[in-house]
Amino acid sequence: MAAAPGSDGRPRAGSDGYELVVTGRAWLDGKLRPVEVGVDEDGWIRRIARNLRDTGHRLDFGESVLLPAATDVHVHFRDPDGPDPAESFASGTEGAALGGIGAVGEMPNTRPPVDDRERWEEKAALARGRIAVDVVLYGSAQSPAAVRSLAPVAGALKLYLAPTTGVEDFPIDRLPEVLEAVAAVGLPLSVHAEWPPAFSPSSVPPSSTEGWNASRPPAAERAAVDRLLRAPSSLRLHIAHATEADTVDRVAGGGISCEATPHHLLLRARSDGDGFAKTNPPLRSEADRRALWDRFASGAVPLLASDHAPHHSAAKEGPFSKAPSGVPGVETMVPLMLELVRSGDLPLPVLLGAAMDRPARWFGLPMGRLAPGHWANLIAIDFRRGRKIEGKHLRSPAGWSPFEGRRAVFPHGHLRRGEILVADGEFVGPRNGAVVRPEYVSTVSRNVPNRFVTKRV
Ligand code: DOR
Ligand code: ZN
Repeated sequence: MAAAPGSDGRPRAGSDGYELVVTGRAWLDGKLRPVEVGVDEDGWIRRIARNLRDTGHRLDFGESVLLPAATDVHVHFRDPDGPDPAESFASGTEGAALGGIGAVGEMPNTRPPVDDRERWEEKAALARGRIAVDVVLYGSAQSPAAVRSLAPVAGALKLYLAPTTGVEDFPIDRLPEVLEAVAAVGLPLSVHAEWPPAFSPSSVPPSSTEGWNASRPPAAERAAVDRLLRAPSSLRLHIAHATEADTVDRVAGGGISCEATPHHLLLRARSDGDGFAKTNPPLRSEADRRALWDRFASGAVPLLASDHAPHHSAAKEGPFSKAPSGVPGVETMVPLMLELVRSGDLPLPVLLGAAMDRPARWFGLPMGRLAPGHWANLIAIDFRRGRKIEGKHLRSPAGWSPFEGRRAVFPHGHLRRGEILVADGEFVGPRNGAVVRPEYVSTVSRNVPNRFVTKRV
């Protein structure tokens, strides 16, 4: 029975406090079961049951599987950038929405870099009103001064130990000082863990991903991890784009989290001169890739993140040595993994932990679980509707994908706080995403939404 409308014509929230019921099937208690999800007027999940009383607003996804939207803790949206940007907050967050990602962590290596509070505020102002999903804005941790300036505003910090797109050499002897500064402010720190003294200089510039791998070898990741394992234990430390199974094992023992990217999990280094696959850290050998995949599929890698690095194809087409490093991936990350769930190569609970639940918790966002007390950020999946990835049909102006031709299962529906962002696989939503900075991480999973302050900044 529908609730009687209130004076504004909208149905009043039912006695259970929900005003929208979303129906579909969901993975609960180890099984796919039909469910009804009650969402309140502020977009929080209030109740989940086999049958909920009708409130008038009903969104029926039939046999489709409802999953919590993912959080991608590592994207580059290049906003602000130079005169011909390959991405923007508008296109990047739309791609995220289409790929089932409801919140992103956006990196500080933009032009100019986010290395003080004023630049962070400017970037946040650029984002507001243009973002389709929620955004956590990183600040740069390249110096103790940057860390101190950014502490009151940034949602997380990023430290690059090695040069990469838009980042110069880091004075590695200052690492202990930077880590002390971060520990003092308490923000999570993601580290690009390549140790330049362990790079292999060569008189011949590398001309393939195999050569790139030889010049920035796994030993450089190992050496960086050695240093980071000595960091103050109070740090919330995270290793970006781990490429080696050994890294995953060692950081777990040291209380540090890490992420793996779809490109390091699914692509290997090759001898041809394809600059499109050039990335930092490099793609590794097939044996290393497989070992990383085995760790991931067994649930040992805490987070999945895209490191979405959109570069124009014109820049990537040139000689390998001139190609910028990085590959796009925010829109394809979850769909690629859902296809591997469909094919039986990846257990769904592993994907739910690595892409939905743990990354949300790392940022302190109340999402990533289909459970009361969480935002109703949901995606709807029909596993029969797989298709091949075509770069030119992706939302990023970069217009290409390192996964061209691979099968993927894109969500056909996506809700942000109960509001439709994607319907029938098309972006239809508003651009009212928020720049968020979680304040009280410890209250995330309680069913007391009003006491969880995710500050809109
Ligand atoms: O390959 C990369 N590209 N690695 C990074 O660390 C940065 C990224 C980019 O921003 O293009
Ligand atoms: Zn990155």
